[in-house]
Amino acid sequence: SIEIKVDSLLTLMTLEEKIGQMNQYNGFWNVTGPVPKDGDAAKKYEDLRKGYVGSMLNVTGVENVRAVQKIAVEESRLGIPLIIGFDVIHGFKTISPIPLAESASWDLEAIERSAQVAAEEAAASGINWTFAPMIDISRDARWGRVMEGAGEDPYLGSKIAIARVKGFQGDDLSKVNTIAACAKHFAGYGFSESGKDYNTVDVGTSTLYNIIFPPFIAAKDAGVATFMNSFNELNGIPATGNKYLQRDILKSKWDFKGFMVSDWGSISEMINHKYAKDGKHAAELAINAGSDMDMESNLYVKELAGLVREGKVKEELIDDAVKRILRVKFQLGLFDDPYKYCNESREKEIIGKQEFHDAVLDVAKKSIVLLKNENNLLPLKKNGQKIALIGALAGDKTSPLGSWRIAADDGTAVSVLEGLKSYSGNSIIYEKGADVTIGKTEFISELTINETDTSGFAKAIAVAKSADVVVMVLGEHGLQSGEGRSRVNLDLPGVQQELLEAVYKVNKNIVLVLNNGRPLAINWADEHIPAIVEAWHLGTQSGHAIAQVLYGDYNPSGKLPMTFPKHVGQMPLYYNYKATGRPTIPAPGLVFWAHYQDEVNEPLYPFGHGLSYTTFKYSNLKVDSSNMKEIVVSFDLKNTGKVKGKEVAQLYVQDLYASVTRPVKELKGFELLELHPNESKTIKFLLTDKELGFYDNTGQFIVEPGEFKVFIGGSSKTILEQQFELK
Ligand code: IFM
Repeated sequence: SIEIKVDSLLTLMTLEEKIGQMNQYNGFWNVTGPVPKDGDAAKKYEDLRKGYVGSMLNVTGVENVRAVQKIAVEESRLGIPLIIGFDVIHGFKTISPIPLAESASWDLEAIERSAQVAAEEAAASGINWTFAPMIDISRDARWGRVMEGAGEDPYLGSKIAIARVKGFQGDDLSKVNTIAACAKHFAGYGFSESGKDYNTVDVGTSTLYNIIFPPFIAAKDAGVATFMNSFNELNGIPATGNKYLQRDILKSKWDFKGFMVSDWGSISEMINHKYAKDGKHAAELAINAGSDMDMESNLYVKELAGLVREGKVKEELIDDAVKRILRVKFQLGLFDDPYKYCNESREKEIIGKQEFHDAVLDVAKKSIVLLKNENNLLPLKKNGQKIALIGALAGDKTSPLGSWRIAADDGTAVSVLEGLKSYSGNSIIYEKGADVTIGKTEFISELTINETDTSGFAKAIAVAKSADVVVMVLGEHGLQSGEGRSRVNLDLPGVQQELLEAVYKVNKNIVLVLNNGRPLAINWADEHIPAIVEAWHLGTQSGHAIAQVLYGDYNPSGKLPMTFPKHVGQMPLYYNYKATGRPTIPAPGLVFWAHYQDEVNEPLYPFGHGLSYTTFKYSNLKVDSSNMKEIVVSFDLKNTGKVKGKEVAQLYVQDLYASVTRPVKELKGFELLELHPNESKTIKFLLTDKELGFYDNTGQFIVEPGEFKVFIGGSSKTILEQQFELK
């Protein structure tokens, strides 16, 4: 078995070789070029030859991967293969929607398929490990990395975490089209104070266990091969040096058998956190806390052997880390054939396959959320309409790829302009109106937003004047969200709001298509614009997906995985809040209740919201609580409109009083189903201890008998409710 092989290999290894397995380097020189003679690259090259490198990241392409693998396998003493990691977040070359967008589909099969496509394409390029899925729950739209997660809800987030792990890993890691997944970032990264990336995280046990942990437990139970820790500190201890998180919870309580990789440089960053006094101390803290692999701090390879000799780190901890890493390498089949992911003809044949484009188009359509549609302005007619298309993002072929898509080539997305033009019945006149960004748009550079240049407005206004319908594509550039890209404003960036208002003055028939990586506060648009479509950053097939929805060839079915606020000052805003002692106004005009003076408490669009070109009716809610083991909830859903459509029927519960206060509502079930006009179905959910219990303040899962409420509807603003007693 794998365990016997791991153990016997370990007995052959020197301490330095063991530590080498725990060392991960970034792609560091032209790997197919001449051998580097001096400096950092020469040192890293030498380490590879000596067997002091266990993994590399950011080496892609069969030729490059083969080159580094060959050094590890053929030149090092034991020839242990490298595990090759890469951020395959939402696609490799063929890009699917950003994860937040995909989460809006609530379609677990489509999400799993999207991860499967990404895995197959990346594996064909030599990669065997992705740093995904990111399963950090976040309630703060200011945080740039909400684009990479599944939104604010732990129940939906857990289901999506499972789908993504299954998609990447399949049912057999040793298959050549699957790759190891990585549940990240453990833990609490999505709760950074004030939504500022890398900022301090301070949360209580209840939030940690009930909100942050569930997707990680789900990923672990789904068999995720690896975890990544996190840049942030959690309650005063950096996640990377946090023994409670990594050893006590993950490895002991949850019995996780895979390995934990640090985040980039997060071991050395413990010095900046003021937790470690120097690099040596940081390495000691990290390994003792359970960080198995060092990503780019270069501290394990430098310091661990000395720390073991000084008795500050027990060799058995090194052995445990190495066994975990070797186990995953064996599971991937790297010892049977270290070059199994290195096949040039497979690489050529697989990357960019048509069926991948079909899959990412499918999930892109399903990710679109219809936020508003007054007077049935949508869908557009297919013939005889004069359409003015306005907004720089409408013609952009790079922005729709979104953030964290590092292997994809710029300019490879289908733009909205191209998508609309592929329907030839209407006349389309395009004017960008105003740029969103100025100058370079690169993953590692700060963007400059156009805050002043309105010189293109006049042309846009002119085409709008003569059009039957104006489609405006506005929002954030694809690189305005993502890592390091927090915002204090949640409005349309730059001069776009001004452009929207200027166009509205001459033509009110506007369809606003939003491109963004986070919830936006678009009050003015909601008050004035008749149709609003949330189209996120949808990846390679973006323009086709948007066109199919605008023309009604796909009836929108997406539902928001995050609450949209009315004002950034409401952040953090989420549907599963606690009641507080003063939840409602005592009498008109009184002030001492939980509210703002200058904004309402309600969101602009609630969690779970999303319209369709048809309508649905919920009725006949029944709750049968006679069986103590499971409560049976049933209700009818009918398509009351004129076209076929899909609905995500949602079930929420509330524990009316408990030994630890519970949220006003919690999602505990959903079903995505398609109904023809007039068709009706009875939907049934079972509520067991799992749905009705919670973690108390000691981290114990408990179920408390008593009064509960169940709520049903097409969003968290539910329609039907009933009380029942759990005996
Ligand atoms: O996987 C990422 C992580 O999410 C953020 N820091 C860098 C890692 C590797 O690129």
